[in-house]
Amino acid sequence: MTPPPLTPAGLRCAHQVEPLGVAPDRVRLSWRLEGTGTGRAQRAYQVLVTLEEPDAAVAWDSGRVESAVTADIAYAGAPLTAGGRYRWKVRVWDETGSASGWSEPARFEVELDRTSGWHASWIGPSRIRESVTPPSGEGPVDPVARALTPAPYLRRVFAVGQPVAFARLYVTALGLYEARLNGRRVGDGFLTPGWTDYTRRLAYQTYDVTGLLNQGDNVLGAIVADGWYAGFYGFDPKRAGAHYGTAPELLAQLVLRLADGSEQRIVTDGQWESSTGAIRHADLLMGERHDLALEPAGWDVPSFDATGWRPVQVRERDATPLVADPGPPVRVTQEITPRSVATDDHGRHIVDFGQNLTGWLRVKVDGPPGTHVRIRHGEVLAPDGSLYTDNLRTARATDEFTTAGGPEVLEPRFTLHGFRYAEITGYPGEAEITARVVHSDTPAAGNFESSLPWLDQLFRIIDWGQRGNFISVPTDCPQRDERLGWLGDAQVFARTACYNRDVAAFFAKWLDDVADAQLPSGAFTDVAPRLTLTGSGAPAWGDAGVIVPWTVWSMYGDTAVLDRHFGAMTRWMDFLERANPDYLRARELGNSYNDWLTPGDDDTPPELLATSYWAHDAALMAEIADATGRPGDAAGYRALRSKIRSAFTDAFVAADGQVASGTQTAYVLGLYMNLVPDDLRAAAADHLVAAIRAAGWHLTTGFAGVGYLLPVLSSTGHTAAAYRLLEQDTMPSWRYMLDHGATTIWERWDGWTAERGFQSPWMNSFNHYTLGSVGEWLYRFLLGIDQEPGTAGFGQLLLRPHPGGSLDWARGSYRSARGPVSTGWERDRGRFTYWAELPPNVTATVRIPSSHAAEVRDAAGQPPSALADFPAARDIQEAVFQVGSGAHEFSGPALTDVQED
Ligand code: BGC
Repeated sequence: MTPPPLTPAGLRCAHQVEPLGVAPDRVRLSWRLEGTGTGRAQRAYQVLVTLEEPDAAVAWDSGRVESAVTADIAYAGAPLTAGGRYRWKVRVWDETGSASGWSEPARFEVELDRTSGWHASWIGPSRIRESVTPPSGEGPVDPVARALTPAPYLRRVFAVGQPVAFARLYVTALGLYEARLNGRRVGDGFLTPGWTDYTRRLAYQTYDVTGLLNQGDNVLGAIVADGWYAGFYGFDPKRAGAHYGTAPELLAQLVLRLADGSEQRIVTDGQWESSTGAIRHADLLMGERHDLALEPAGWDVPSFDATGWRPVQVRERDATPLVADPGPPVRVTQEITPRSVATDDHGRHIVDFGQNLTGWLRVKVDGPPGTHVRIRHGEVLAPDGSLYTDNLRTARATDEFTTAGGPEVLEPRFTLHGFRYAEITGYPGEAEITARVVHSDTPAAGNFESSLPWLDQLFRIIDWGQRGNFISVPTDCPQRDERLGWLGDAQVFARTACYNRDVAAFFAKWLDDVADAQLPSGAFTDVAPRLTLTGSGAPAWGDAGVIVPWTVWSMYGDTAVLDRHFGAMTRWMDFLERANPDYLRARELGNSYNDWLTPGDDDTPPELLATSYWAHDAALMAEIADATGRPGDAAGYRALRSKIRSAFTDAFVAADGQVASGTQTAYVLGLYMNLVPDDLRAAAADHLVAAIRAAGWHLTTGFAGVGYLLPVLSSTGHTAAAYRLLEQDTMPSWRYMLDHGATTIWERWDGWTAERGFQSPWMNSFNHYTLGSVGEWLYRFLLGIDQEPGTAGFGQLLLRPHPGGSLDWARGSYRSARGPVSTGWERDRGRFTYWAELPPNVTATVRIPSSHAAEVRDAAGQPPSALADFPAARDIQEAVFQVGSGAHEFSGPALTDVQED
């Protein structure tokens, strides 16, 4: 029986659902296929793109293209019109040659022309602050409070004479904005326009505001705040408060298409007026203060009496490019009600949300006017039950409200706190309290469940750490005076991040920040956007400039990101080679953080760590060059890699497979980056296990080694050792964190210990995702959801589960670029069963480990197509099956447990 044709669905443009603003060179199309049956595949596709106006003209008809590719399809039609509104659809032919119907159409709109498309000027309140007092210094006046000023409110009244056919609002700020139209909030994004290096690139958002306009009088308004642009940020108090500028400004352009076809444009210019309202200050680190009696009620509707509002100051735009925001908006994605509210001896309410999260509180109150409510935020409690805030350093993370009286909602708008607990003072009555969870809205992609509840909890807290730190850029932590886009942290966690959530658009945006920050020398920086920190070139940090684009390509099949940054990556590689002509990376190590935050001494030689990352870059560059049709470059990078490998071997690998310094990280890097000669790999892996054993079955890795540790153990036949580390419950271990109340991954293995209590408050975040990079192993190894080496975009899967430890069963899924991949396994009375459900248009090699691999059977009773050595043999083999889409099950004798002791 022929199965029904495949259905293309889930259409995306530039990894976004119907983006209203996309740069022409970012238009890449993708879809997923839905369909029942096994072995389903796409043979060919046809894409049709039409310009909505003036006459639905065809902009691109790809014709029938013989290809299985469903992502990364570059638009190749007539030049895209700036501001143009396009519709597109796709149909496919399946493995039998039958055609699908056309997909539901999807839309995209092209960004405005970066020079001629903008008619707006920057506006701000008439008194632009000239200087900002830094938060240092003693004295009666609080220096921080002196640098915090009221958020400007901006408004413009305009008349519309006809019905509106459609309207778009293009808007950005130096600082943060909340746009308002006729009394309504525009869009559901927060902290817009997000963080970029505002001196290099300004992102703007586009909103469909057709439904918010009236025939007659209208008001377009905005509240702006300091944000990353002018607020306190990072940890350099000398410059805090003025990283890019001293006061926020707004740039907006409202374009209306009227019923008669004419266009009306309202832009930020001298016709706007400004005042202030309830928001007395708003700062990302310090928090907000609202005096609700000062809110000019109705300021954003036409009937408002704006007496006393002042004309704005106007400043012409400069040449800084304005780009449609390529990333996902920051949104409120969840609300959490308190688990408990306790009152301490001082009448302070301590609210526990049961989860460390990033966001803020919404408090509904009904009380007398003039009540002063103060909300402080903290991740943990001190031993006496009070809020612990020492680890926030200079971040005050305090929101304060003076009520106007009656039923009111107390909620900040331009700040962000990392917290599990809140301390509320001043509110006498019964308040309705909610925590609002805020982050870049990256849809969940991964799932994990097992027979060990603590392991499921580990999986969850890894994802919570990601949510709390993916906020316009991937930050290290969301609570203290730092919150920077550290490159090292991001590269270590990138693959886990992609499995957990769809971060394709998020990383596409941030990789522009990384490229913007790159120095003329070619050095990638320690943080991006580059702010108070000027460090560059640090091993494992700068290398993110190659590793993260490679990871995005690998996970999403996105070659656009590789082409876009190929030049920057090449400059980085040239920078390294210029500095290190003998192929040992010993110079230009910048701030060399080395294996940052190892639990004991960091004894891995910096040149070893640096050289291994360089070799890794070269290997990835060769794949990148191949994937983007640059065979000459690929050959060059392979040759470079082999020179680095020889230099590494000569300098660091002994004849018996020992790797210099003997740290776990030294072995892990040598093995993961494939720098240990092939005939010494097994010996080196044994040395690694010996080092783990010598540490009492504990890991000793810091940031640079941790993500590769379990993958290296499993790939060298030491999955049993990987499980011992995973299940270890004494410090340092993931379980130690869990057993001591972690609800997000800690920055340090010893963030809190039973013996000593809290680590030094100067660096002790309880929400830092990097050590959560073990998530990648849960997906790729434990569940076995991986792809064939060298392939990208999850078209050719490698399903290779690694059972072990005290786990009886596990199941999980990953919503890949080709659709959901679900797998699971069970060990029961000597039998091992693995099942997998695969989307159309994939092939998979399934490798089932078994002590008697030849006896493994699929659901139809068929034997394996081949037998292969389990990694590093150890008398174990794998039963190999080749399958396509659909549901599959395999079962056979389980592995005899390999003991490592
Ligand atoms: C950050 C890290 C970062 C490190 C660099 C710390 O302050 O929190 O996560 O990677 O500095 O050494």
